[in-house]
Amino acid sequence: MATEVQTKSSGNIAPPLDARNSWQALRAHYPQVQKLYLRALFAGDPHRGERMSVEGAGLFLDYSKNRITEETVKLLLELAEESQLRQRIDAMFSGEKINITENRAVLHVALRAPRGASILVDGVNVVPEVHAVLDRMTDFSNRVRSGAWKGHTGKRIRNVINIGIGGSDLGPVMAYEALRHYSERNMNFRYVSNVDGTDFAEAVHDLDPAETLFIVSSKTFTTLETMTNAHSAREWLLAGIGGDEAAVARHFVAVSTNAGEVKKFGIDTENMFGFWDWVGGRYSMDSAIGLSTMIAVGPDNFREMLDGFHEMDEHFRTTPFERNLPVLMGLLSIWYNDFFGAQTVAVLPYDQYLKRFPAYLQQLTMESNGKSVTLAGTKVDYATGPIYWGEPGTNGQHSFYQLIHQGTRLIPCDFIGFCQSLNPLGRHHDMLMANVFAQTEALAFGKTAEQVKAEGTPDWLVPHRVFEGNRPSNTILAERLTPAVLGKLVALYEHSVFTQGAIWQINSFDQWGVELGKALAQRIIPELENKNEPALTHDSSTNNLIRRYRQKKGER
Ligand code: F6P
Repeated sequence: MATEVQTKSSGNIAPPLDARNSWQALRAHYPQVQKLYLRALFAGDPHRGERMSVEGAGLFLDYSKNRITEETVKLLLELAEESQLRQRIDAMFSGEKINITENRAVLHVALRAPRGASILVDGVNVVPEVHAVLDRMTDFSNRVRSGAWKGHTGKRIRNVINIGIGGSDLGPVMAYEALRHYSERNMNFRYVSNVDGTDFAEAVHDLDPAETLFIVSSKTFTTLETMTNAHSAREWLLAGIGGDEAAVARHFVAVSTNAGEVKKFGIDTENMFGFWDWVGGRYSMDSAIGLSTMIAVGPDNFREMLDGFHEMDEHFRTTPFERNLPVLMGLLSIWYNDFFGAQTVAVLPYDQYLKRFPAYLQQLTMESNGKSVTLAGTKVDYATGPIYWGEPGTNGQHSFYQLIHQGTRLIPCDFIGFCQSLNPLGRHHDMLMANVFAQTEALAFGKTAEQVKAEGTPDWLVPHRVFEGNRPSNTILAERLTPAVLGKLVALYEHSVFTQGAIWQINSFDQWGVELGKALAQRIIPELENKNEPALTHDSSTNNLIRRYRQKKGER
């Protein structure tokens, strides 16, 4: 079995995690670090903040407020080497089929490679194909933005609705929100993903079908939610435009890898923008799946975003691990996940434009690394992918930060801030950023009982007001939220996920775990729709729930 996997993965597999010397060394090292306090670590090294900061691809990462010593970093870097991270990176960038369970290359990095680059998949350079699609997207986006592309009745398009789910939704909607500052303000951009009819109904309730363009985004073009919404969209359009089927061609375009299904739906493949099986859904926001983003912000800004991705790709590929941002962040995540037993990571962007960034990261991180067997098919005996979650600051401070500061769980946090605001308004930005710095300081250093007492707090209240501190965080600073910086941030997390997956030796690029629920839903749908009482053969709980739903659904 192991030999078979080695051929399939076309790369060497590192020894099992437990058998790696660096892993054993980290195990031995952890109890010493576990006892250390950030307060003492900073007191003992006045330059820790400077020493444990690194800049790459224009992003600044301060990782000094982590529960680590020089020795921890050294051992984690050894772990990366011993886990053959370098070889795994090279394998990905050179188009090897590292997604062994689907026998696919993993080449989202090719989506942002410059025009002249060469990346081979099965002997074919894919970069020219990538740019050919980008050029078609550019032409189409320009036509929609300028009004040259007209709807069926001759009206210009004012509303663009992306219909997709998972990677075909979260990236586009996150990027649209993140880059709203750069977007065409005379147009509306909306995103429909949920099979809950409310999502579609609310998205279109105030729109004129004659001015609305739907982008049906689905890698497979078979996803239940997306196809259901796409069919409802077609009905809504035809009902609002006089029923002429010819209208579909002016109001629907598709983004997919499946030309056959696109045709079946009735979309002219002339109006289809393709991508490739080597682009995973959650890694697809800079493929044609980003068409709505490009229409919103314009081709130049979209290409600037791709350049930002590429800059981080190059940083990841070429920078020594000790100065490599995604590698360091990935290793720190391993440190808390596997040694401290931390179950989650909070991502806290201090920028309202990044309000969907944590939701985007949830698919990226958890669909990638929520795995419990290794590449060799054996069950892991260590924790893999942590739960990523978060909200923009400062809102989160008035909601869940309490638990991070004084709760019983260790929650490593990533703070993301910008030195310049896109909406400078009085003192707002200094106040916002003061909160970033204050939170990381409070989490790391807390407030001792002595300090609380010295403020005149009565003895009985002191324990409630003590902050233990020693809560770890990373701080990522960028100059300003530009399209390029967004690309860099996303690529930073993509490659951090890759780093973690390489160390855990799991396949970060498949998602078999979503299949069972999909298949069961397909079986249940007719049981809910059947006019006659169906014979139910589920467990007693599921049978009972289905019966109750059937009974109640018509009562109104
Ligand atoms: O949820 C599973 C999944 O396959 C995701 O990986 C993907 O992003 C999403 O469904 C949507 O798939 P598609 O683009 O094929 O509609």
